[in-house]
Amino acid sequence: MTGALAGGAALALNSQLAIAQQMITGRKPTIETIHGRGIASGMVRMNLNENPLGPSPLAIKAIADNMFAINRYGTEEREAIEALAWFEGVTLPKREQGQMDEMTMFRGPASPYLMTAGSSQVLGLLTLAFLSRSGGEVVEAKYGYGQIARSGDMYKQMFGVNINTILAPMTPGYKHDLDAMAKAITPKTTMVVITNPNNPTGTLLEVAEIEAFVKKVPGNVLVVVDEAYIHFAEHDPVLSVIPLVSKYENLVAVRTFSKAYAMAGLRLGYSVSSQKVKAEMMKYFNGGPSILANVAGKAAVEDLEHLQRSRETVWSFKKRCYAEFEKMGFSYIPTQGTFIMVDLKREAGPVVREMRKRNVMISNRRQEEFKNWIRVSAGTEDETEVFLQTLKEVLTTTI
Ligand SMILES: Cc1ncc(COP(=O)(O)O)c(C=O)c1O
Repeated sequence: MTGALAGGAALALNSQLAIAQQMITGRKPTIETIHGRGIASGMVRMNLNENPLGPSPLAIKAIADNMFAINRYGTEEREAIEALAWFEGVTLPKREQGQMDEMTMFRGPASPYLMTAGSSQVLGLLTLAFLSRSGGEVVEAKYGYGQIARSGDMYKQMFGVNINTILAPMTPGYKHDLDAMAKAITPKTTMVVITNPNNPTGTLLEVAEIEAFVKKVPGNVLVVVDEAYIHFAEHDPVLSVIPLVSKYENLVAVRTFSKAYAMAGLRLGYSVSSQKVKAEMMKYFNGGPSILANVAGKAAVEDLEHLQRSRETVWSFKKRCYAEFEKMGFSYIPTQGTFIMVDLKREAGPVVREMRKRNVMISNRRQEEFKNWIRVSAGTEDETEVFLQTLKEVLTTTI
């Protein structure tokens, strides 16, 4: 046990030393010398919209401080919620001393927050509660994230549930077309999903546009706003629908710690909604995040400086790539997310495969619609250089 801990610490230390050495020597990074955070040396992973900077050191410290308490129940969930409510300006119901049942003791009194194991769990709970239980209809954007629409299709195929999926057209700039989405709503519609900023197109809607849309849709239609990448929108203050949730019972905000807080592997996400919507999700909820995820989440939210570093890492990546793509004559969709869609003007599949052979991972998932496009996720400065260099080599030498 001590050996395993020491081994783990030594590995982590080695990787930090490798990063430091690379910085000191000032040599141009190559795939041979690269050492990204949380990944083996010699690999560049820019295909999964992960955060290349890594989590706040305070989050790691919180995990270390709590790892010897995991024999106990109790999740520190309330503390994580309080940190989020502070950051997001949400007023929580007060803790009543003295008359707490066991559940309230662990979770605190009913708050608009539901903490989950990643935001994928929220999207799953919403699908179960509002689509697959007794059938329904979901409207998503044609090039939206699509998890709920895909799950709806799967429930229909596997279990014969009466679910309809409508993919609404987007604007020519690949933005959500809220008028088209409103028009697509039918009497059967139970849910509309907006991803803001959108993945994979990176486009952003203003909160005022979303509010006008929520006012327009029938009150029985749930409006889901997935804000996985909202912290990276170059807009101050951050454009979130969270302040609107107390006004509209049919609005739910979905958030994750996987992106801005760089904790994808720890699995932490949450929703902010009315009690009515939360109660529906709770019918299917069978367990949330562990104490380690919650304490790390709380520390991450409170580390505003690290959040800013995280945003700046992504913004530098964008700037650098835009400049190079322009020199190379490629068009791209300006992004408010952590990734860029770029048109290579040739079939992207072989390029992605050749890059993979050279240990540089990028994505071309939406091949039916975006045959010539790749999606590249943010890297550190060095990873971005290696990605650009490898892309140039692959485009000029091999295929
Ligand atoms: C728009 C969007 N929503 C949700 C998720 C799921 O994130 P997680 O389950 O890690 O919180 C992702 C992951 O890439 C995403 O891009």
